[in-house]
Amino acid sequence: MVKEKTREKPHDMDNRIQILKDWLSQIQRSKEGKKGRIISICNQKGGVGKTVTAINLSAFLAAYRQRTLLMDLDPQGHCGLGLGIDVDNLDKSIYDTFLNGTGNLTDTILSIKPNLDILPANIDLAGLETELVNDSHRATKLVDKLQSIRHLYEYIIIDCPPSIGLLTINALVASRMVIIPIQSSFFSLHGFERILETIGTLMETLSLDIKVYLLFTFFEGRLRESWIVREKVKSTFGKHLLNTIIRKTTRLNEATRRGISILEYEPRSMGCYDYHQLAREVMEIE
Ligand SMILES: Nc1ncnc2c1ncn2[C@@H]1O[C@H](COP(=O)(O)OP(=O)(O)O)[C@@H](O)[C@H]1O
Ligand SMILES: [Mg+2]
Repeated sequence: MVKEKTREKPHDMDNRIQILKDWLSQIQRSKEGKKGRIISICNQKGGVGKTVTAINLSAFLAAYRQRTLLMDLDPQGHCGLGLGIDVDNLDKSIYDTFLNGTGNLTDTILSIKPNLDILPANIDLAGLETELVNDSHRATKLVDKLQSIRHLYEYIIIDCPPSIGLLTINALVASRMVIIPIQSSFFSLHGFERILETIGTLMETLSLDIKVYLLFTFFEGRLRESWIVREKVKSTFGKHLLNTIIRKTTRLNEATRRGISILEYEPRSMGCYDYHQLAREVMEIE
């Protein structure tokens, strides 16, 4: 017997529409997730390769046609200097239009080359912490401001200052991923636990979901110490350690001094190879 085709009841139709709506919003969410991925480069120690990593990771992401914004949260302004910007004579810096809340964020963004923009900082940013001391929203200033520009970029890379103060906390609150550069020496192991603790506490108190990764920088393969330190970190942190290793090379230093990325300065150098690897690994994770 042929079964008579039953007409769909109105509530079945409602259900199906609801399922379709949920499905569409899921797709929408996953598309949004691909936009504006915010990655902070953090370590309270200076001289570990944060800025060089922020600059060169951004340059390679841009070369992969990922629209990238490099954001400098360090009052020393090294990101801008490392990309040839006269940070002492900026019309506007991240301080004026971004954290101070006046004006439009896009007025402060400078275009460096195709797919690569920068939000430069300078010494003005140093006063921010004291100015915001009575602001109850001081830890979320950055994340709030970023909402209006996030959709314009695939990646936003934040270069943090060498301290765990308000600026670093703002960066962490905004980030989905944090890369902690560490040098491959015994001394460097001491201290980076502090930033891990801070991230852990922030994640717990603010219910944040941050992926944390460690990156070896200044790696000297000929030294036994480097490999011992790497093994120790690998056995402790496992998959949180990035496979990419940034080797020590004067070429990276020279590129920064010239105000260009390693990709432009010396495309066949090992520094270029290493940061290329890093960009590829980051794109695979995120
Ligand atoms: N892999 C590397 N090999 C050699 N020199 C490096 C390397 N990474 C960074 N440098 C140099 O070391 C110094 C400190 O690096 P930087 O990125 O400014 O550290 P941070 O931002 O953590 O203070 C800079 O002069 C930079 O050019
Ligand atoms: Mg720096």
